[in-house]
Amino acid sequence: MEATPEARTEVSLERTLEELLAVERFEPPAGFTRRRHIEADQAAADADPEGFWADAARDLLTWETPFTQVLDDSNPPFYTWFADGTLNLSVNCLDRHVAAGRGERVAFHWRGEEGERRDVTYARLLADTQAFANGLRQLGVQAGDVVGIFLPMIPEVAVAMLACARIGAVHNVVFGGFAPSAVAERMAVSEAKVLVTVDGARRKGKRAEVKAAVDAELGELPALAHIVVVRGPGEHPGVVPMTAGRDVWYDELLAAAEPDCPAVALPAEHPLFILYSSGSTAKPKGILHTTAGYLLGATYTHRMVFDIDADTDVYWCSADVGWITGHSYIVYGPLSNGATSVMYEGAPDYPDRDIWWRIIEEYRVTVFYTAPTAIRTCIKWGPEFPGRHDLSSLRVLGTVGEPINPKAWLWYHLVIGGGRCPIVDTWWQTETGSVLISPLAGVTATKPGSATRPLPGISPALFAEDGKPLTEGTGILVITRPWPSMLRTLYKDDERFVETYFSRFGPSTYVVGDAARLDADGYFWIIGRIDDVINVSGHRLSTAEVESAIVAHEAVAEAAVVAEPDEQTGQAIVAFVTLAGERIGDAEVEAQLRDHVARRIGKLARPRRIIWADDLPKTRSGKIMRRLLRDVAAGRELGDVTTLRDPAVMAVIADRVRGAR
Ligand code: WT7
Repeated sequence: MEATPEARTEVSLERTLEELLAVERFEPPAGFTRRRHIEADQAAADADPEGFWADAARDLLTWETPFTQVLDDSNPPFYTWFADGTLNLSVNCLDRHVAAGRGERVAFHWRGEEGERRDVTYARLLADTQAFANGLRQLGVQAGDVVGIFLPMIPEVAVAMLACARIGAVHNVVFGGFAPSAVAERMAVSEAKVLVTVDGARRKGKRAEVKAAVDAELGELPALAHIVVVRGPGEHPGVVPMTAGRDVWYDELLAAAEPDCPAVALPAEHPLFILYSSGSTAKPKGILHTTAGYLLGATYTHRMVFDIDADTDVYWCSADVGWITGHSYIVYGPLSNGATSVMYEGAPDYPDRDIWWRIIEEYRVTVFYTAPTAIRTCIKWGPEFPGRHDLSSLRVLGTVGEPINPKAWLWYHLVIGGGRCPIVDTWWQTETGSVLISPLAGVTATKPGSATRPLPGISPALFAEDGKPLTEGTGILVITRPWPSMLRTLYKDDERFVETYFSRFGPSTYVVGDAARLDADGYFWIIGRIDDVINVSGHRLSTAEVESAIVAHEAVAEAAVVAEPDEQTGQAIVAFVTLAGERIGDAEVEAQLRDHVARRIGKLARPRRIIWADDLPKTRSGKIMRRLLRDVAAGRELGDVTTLRDPAVMAVIADRVRGAR
């Protein structure tokens, strides 16, 4: 049988991948030239991290009042950085570039889902930011007030964030894929004064009436005085409900606002934003970042890890602004560095599965940053989609969000990077604010699947259960010294902040929540979460949060949620559910439950599988043994069940799991 040319390339790609799987270590690709000189000497930075960060802060940021203090560690774990300095973040991201004659440089090549193009320059962004900052003030927003932002991937999301920063308001961005009820919850707990949202959003040709849906969920929110509504891109057939006195159109507010809004010089530790993230309990954590330290982390790592040269690079991070990746590596890092980025509104498979590669070709993207789960999806779709486009502009590739399996790494390296682009596997978290463990493009030798080594000035370590440091092997990942972009607390919950991150090994050891392995070369291999957090496609979900959403359904008596490995999404959610009144579920209840979870949390949180149980495996003290559920979901031999109150429970569940397969 004759193989088609495509099939033949696929066979040889498979073979090359198989061969390369044996290669443990990749030196920086020959011919790759770094554009950014690495001034920092790792050893010097590690010996004097404070001095290193102080130099970087003077070098990279524009201050209104220079700082004289660097780190204040007199009250751990409540650290402060550069506390007596003042600055404005929007000045660092906008004014200083415009003042240097780069106002006409494109900040964002915005690309709409239907192919629309809008190039937003630094000058335009500054003008809109000032006008919107004045608009927010007119609505009564003052420094320290919380402003919620629930917007799709449109330039206005950056304007809204920067306008908050200009006047010292604290933004609270909610991921556009979350359900309106999650927006309502986050507005309530953060006591947001204003919410900025959109009339409607589109996804793969379908429209969602966002404003109406949000209205329906908001309920009584005494603190929420105004809702600003952006007219999103595309057709707007729906009628948008606007409450007189409360709701205002973004464009009308902007048109009526004074154009000049002098930036307020804010203390370095002024709160910049809250971002809610999942933890071990059902209540999301309001992770709080402050101004200077956060901006320094985002600026330094964006330029050094990705080797960004703002004069020549076209950078694209495919994340959503609603995650920390979007905050640090779509908005703040790139803008502070004066870079040109792509911002893409749509999905990776609309109108076709080659849209990402089409965009890279069209804008001659040089640095591309995405998630392992996206790469695995592209592998599934096949190399013909990237193969349709000229990707030769690419010079650096990045990944984030979860461990990348070596095969996906190699595919990314060969098919997308043409073998010439260093890959930076960046490990970090919402809490860390910016990348902490990662190769420096073109400098660090990489090992597929390892985030490699800490960046200069960062001190990770592996601890055994008893807190003894390990020099090799597997253990609990901790950071032993504070760093500028670390979270400062959980919003209005200092106690939970200390309890979550600093109770296990004392107030000066930040407990990450991940397990990791350290190899003989000092390379870190992140294994995954050690708390009850599930990582679906690089997005953090708490088992407790999903369980409480399921249990809130009237038919349900009890639920336990575990993760199972999944080729596409890294982990997938399996829910074990007992129904009220001794009922056994059917396809209809299953569909209802999945839909129910989507409405309460978001589509991401929908269980991949629901297993109906008569009872859940509990210890005599009533604690659900999730370990057994994980084993049974994965089809593993069950371990010891004798500590269960009713050992027979597991046999029934195992039968159901087999039946469901
Ligand atoms: C958790 C943080 C940082 C932005 C995206 C997620 C996992 C993140 C990697 C990586 C292995 C990774 C960790 C971490 N994670 N990056 N390169 N290799 N695991 O932010 O929602 O705060 O989640 O994501 O488990 O703790 P997040």
